[in-house]
Amino acid sequence: MNVLMTKKKTPSGREPAKRLKTARGRTTSSSRWLQRQLNDPYVQKAQIDGYRSRAAYKIKDIDDKLGFFKPGVTVVDLGAAPGGWAQVAMERRVKKVVGIDLLPIDPLPGVVFLEMDFTDDEALVALEREIEDKKVDVVMSDIAPNAMGHKQTDHLRIMALVELAYDFAINNLKPDGIFIAKVFQGGAQQDIVATARKDFKTVRHIKPPSSRQDSSETFFIASGFRKV
Ligand SMILES: C[S@@+](CC[C@H](N)C(=O)[O-])C[C@H]1O[C@@H](n2cnc3c(N)ncnc32)[C@H](O)[C@@H]1O
Repeated sequence: MNVLMTKKKTPSGREPAKRLKTARGRTTSSSRWLQRQLNDPYVQKAQIDGYRSRAAYKIKDIDDKLGFFKPGVTVVDLGAAPGGWAQVAMERRVKKVVGIDLLPIDPLPGVVFLEMDFTDDEALVALEREIEDKKVDVVMSDIAPNAMGHKQTDHLRIMALVELAYDFAINNLKPDGIFIAKVFQGGAQQDIVATARKDFKTVRHIKPPSSRQDSSETFFIASGFRKV
């Protein structure tokens, strides 16, 4: 059983970091994860602000910079659970969000959530059925397969999903639309970057302030879709 260890204030007067100790006094990888969660200011902020995930702040940071959540736009949210990105989109008055995830998601007004595997053909059919007038302004993907802990393997596994998300985007975006996808840094991005430079006016990577500095996560963003 995990026991939350609290300490006296540090000599500087700051609250000490919260520490977890297992019953046997050993730190396991799961308790390290929990310890990081307990000490993450964005986790605490999300609880206070009523967001379902700390991830909400990443899309907030990116939208603060690029301003794609506009009233009236339609958004597809790939890997949407538990719904933090969709919350931010609706808060910023987009018209509709269609989200998909392997996991069930609590309902959110204005949002259609599909509990499906995005890699299945039926998922593409179901998503396209939900998209009014067949076109969307924003395709955003926070899809992440369970991390294996091996940097290059994790990079390749997420890139396979990002490529599928990219194909979905170019088949469904309106002219001038934007594609945003979480990636982990690594060598397999060159192909998608080269393709995106032809399909979109601007291609960039953004590491939002709310993304953990010790994570290789970054966001691939292609904007100004050149619809042919
Ligand atoms: C980091 S979470 C998304 C957090 C979300 N953006 C938010 O703000 O709450 C990544 C999600 O990708 C989902 N996922 C992974 N592989 C998937 C797949 N093949 N199809 C659908 N969802 C998938 C996971 O179930 C997980 O919920």
